[in-house]
Amino acid sequence: MSIDIRTLRDDTPACAELIHFNNAGAALAPRSVTDAILTHLADEQRLGGYEAASRAEARINNFYDAFAKLLACEASEIAYAENATHAWNSLFNAIPFTAGDIVLTGQSEYASNFLALLHMAKRQGIEIQVIPNDSAGVIDLERLEAAINPRVKLIALTHTPSQSGVIHPAARVGFMARAHNILYLLDACQSAGQIDLNVNELGCDMLTGTGRKYLRGPRGTGFLYMRRSSMAKLEPAWIDLHSANWSSANTYEFRDDARRFENWECFVAGKIGLGVAIDYALQIGMPAIETRVGELGATLRETLGAIAGVQVHEHGKQLSGIVTFSKQGVSAATLQEGLRAKGINSSVARLASNQLDLAKRGLGDINRASVHYYNTDEEIARFCQMVAQF
Ligand SMILES: Cc1ncc(COP(=O)(O)O)c(C=O)c1O
Repeated sequence: MSIDIRTLRDDTPACAELIHFNNAGAALAPRSVTDAILTHLADEQRLGGYEAASRAEARINNFYDAFAKLLACEASEIAYAENATHAWNSLFNAIPFTAGDIVLTGQSEYASNFLALLHMAKRQGIEIQVIPNDSAGVIDLERLEAAINPRVKLIALTHTPSQSGVIHPAARVGFMARAHNILYLLDACQSAGQIDLNVNELGCDMLTGTGRKYLRGPRGTGFLYMRRSSMAKLEPAWIDLHSANWSSANTYEFRDDARRFENWECFVAGKIGLGVAIDYALQIGMPAIETRVGELGATLRETLGAIAGVQVHEHGKQLSGIVTFSKQGVSAATLQEGLRAKGINSSVARLASNQLDLAKRGLGDINRASVHYYNTDEEIARFCQMVAQF
C-alpha cells in the first residue's frame, strides 16, 4: 500500500503544531491509539479495573495477534513487557550462565543491555567480548565469526542503535548464531516499526522492543519474542501467578508459552493501545514504512551535510531514520534547546550513555534527529534552515 501522508498527518494532531524529529525517543501516537487508551481508562473508571479488562478481552488479546503478524511468528511466542529494558532483562536473566561462559556483543550495544552484561559478569563470572564495528560502522562479521568458540553462550546485538543511524546486519549474525547453535538475543527497540522485521529471516531466538518509539504506541509498554523451539534453553528468573501455575502446595509449572515472562499486573490500556498501533502500522504496510523512513533519513542526511560547519556522523549503505550530527561551535544541548524553542523536537545522544561507541569514534555528546513516515520534506527543509542559523 502507498502512504497517504496527508491522512496520516491528520491522524496525528501534533503534526499541525510542531516538527517532531524525536521519533527514536518517542514517536507521536495516532489518534486511534490515544482514543483506545482513553476509552479503556474510562471503562476502568466506570466499571472497575477487572471488569473492564474482562469486557476488553478481545482487544487485549489483539496485542499478541498483531505482534505475531508484525514479526511473522506465533502469537504464543509474544509476551507483553513494561518496556524494552525489562523485556531484554527477562530473557537475558533466563539464560543459565555459568562462570567462563562468553557473551559476544557489539560496539553499539544499548547502554542498559551492556550494564546488564557487566552485572552478570560480576555475579556469575561470564566473559564479555565486544566485537568492534567495521569501517562502515556496523558489526564486523569477520571478527564476530573469529570470536566464536564452544564457550560462547549468547550473541547479543542491538539492531539499530540509539546513538547512530546504522542498521546492523542482524540476519547475517543470526545465520552465524544458528550455524554454531548459539543463543541470539536481538534488541529491536529502534528497528521495530521502522524496519520490516521477520524473526525467521533474522534468525534470532529472542527479540525485544518498546511501544513508544517507531511503533507509535504509548509509553510504559514493551514486548518480547521468544522462539518456541528455544524455550527449553531458558528458565525465567522471576515468577508470578500468571507466568506459572501453582499446581500443589510445593509444586509449580511455568506456562507453556512466551507469557511465562509476563507479570500478571500490567498497564492494560497501554497493551490495548499498542495493539492498535501495530494494526495501524500493518495497515500502512511495513515495507512501505521502511522505504519512506529510509528516504526521509537520506534526505535529511544530505541536506544537513550541505550546511557549513555541520558534520553528519553516519555513512554507509544501509541507514535508518535516525540521523546523528554535530554543528561546529554549538554544543549538542544548546542546539537541541534552540530548536525546541522554535517548535522542533530533536534529541541528544550522550557520551555518558554510550561509553563504548561514541568514545571509540572520538565523539562527545551529539545531536540526533529521527524521522518517521509522517514527517515531510518541507519539515526537513525547515529543520535544516534552523540548524544553519545557529
Ligand atoms: C536500542 C535501544 N534498546 C533499548 C532501549 C530501552 O528501551 P526502554 O526505555 O523501553 O526500556 C532503548 C531506548 O532508548 C534503545 O534505544
